Amino acid sequence: MFSNTSIVAYVLGLLTFVLAPRLLGGFFRLFNYGPPPRRDIYGLEHALLNMRLPPETMWLNMAYWKNTSDFPTACNNLLQLLLEKSEILKTPSSRPIRLWDLGFDCGDQTISLCTELSRAGLTLCKYDGLTINRSQFLHAQARIQAHIEAHPYLGADNNKKDSLSIIELHLTDASKPSSPPSRAPALQHVSRELESSLLAFDLLRSGSATALQRVLLRLVCAVTQILYANRLTEEEYRDMLAAAGYARENIAVCDVSADVFPGLERFISARGLMVRDVGVLKGWGGFGAVGRVVGWWGRSGVVRGCVLVARRA
Ligand SMILES: C[S@@+](CC[C@H](N)C(=O)[O-])C[C@H]1O[C@@H](n2cnc3c(N)ncnc32)[C@H](O)[C@@H]1O
Repeated sequence: MFSNTSIVAYVLGLLTFVLAPRLLGGFFRLFNYGPPPRRDIYGLEHALLNMRLPPETMWLNMAYWKNTSDFPTACNNLLQLLLEKSEILKTPSSRPIRLWDLGFDCGDQTISLCTELSRAGLTLCKYDGLTINRSQFLHAQARIQAHIEAHPYLGADNNKKDSLSIIELHLTDASKPSSPPSRAPALQHVSRELESSLLAFDLLRSGSATALQRVLLRLVCAVTQILYANRLTEEEYRDMLAAAGYARENIAVCDVSADVFPGLERFISARGLMVRDVGVLKGWGGFGAVGRVVGWWGRSGVVRGCVLVARRA
């Protein structure tokens, strides 16, 4: 069917097609024309070698983005907002403060809380921080200790005790013995046994979400491992706090979603572009998903970020 000559011509044609760009590229590179070699070992990955580690701060909350686009500042601002709403800094200076911090993360919250109390002229008689995560516990321990070496009376009445004797960190599960983790037993404990006021930022489910939105939220919760059962509506949350012993007139809920979700979505999206540019995208997928989910919450109102204050009379 084919002559030997036409088969040879066909193979040569193919080889020319495959090899010509390489040969021509090499030829032009001899004269410094043409593109650089494909397998360039340089890029921007050495950003990893230049980053200052460990980071100065290790905040992790959804943050309050009013007037800032900086993550640590926005996280600290959310804590400041909670302090403002609770009016804790207006406590008479004669009354020492006792704090239980459920979920202190890597210690920034502890340092910031103690600093604010000192600035307001208040005395902390005891701080107990709880976390369930071992690596965060160890990280926080080291950082708080280092901070106290520089500020020995952080939060403490410097005439009586130093900070190390009043700041105690615990590696424990605050929800035990209940399973699966639920807010109710911890709230009961805070209210009845500790007789303490409660201050929290939490994610509430909209009471007017459509059936479709609720189904979507269930799916998102399943994929992101958020416990759907803990996404209460405002009414359900108020009932839970009342059942824990707080008088209904002492419960306040403030929806701050507008200054939380869109800012977090913007920040994650911008940070995603930066980490992609410097080639350290590995591990970013989870944050990207968080950005999309909070973006949906912000636009739909299905989930609302709320500051909750329940005062003991
Ligand atoms: C989103 S982080 C908030 C950290 C901190 N509030 C901040 O603003 O940086 C939640 C923290 O709660 C802790 N946590 C979650 N469930 C817990 C539980 N059942 N018992 C104790 N700590 C828990 C986590 O380990 C984490 O440190």
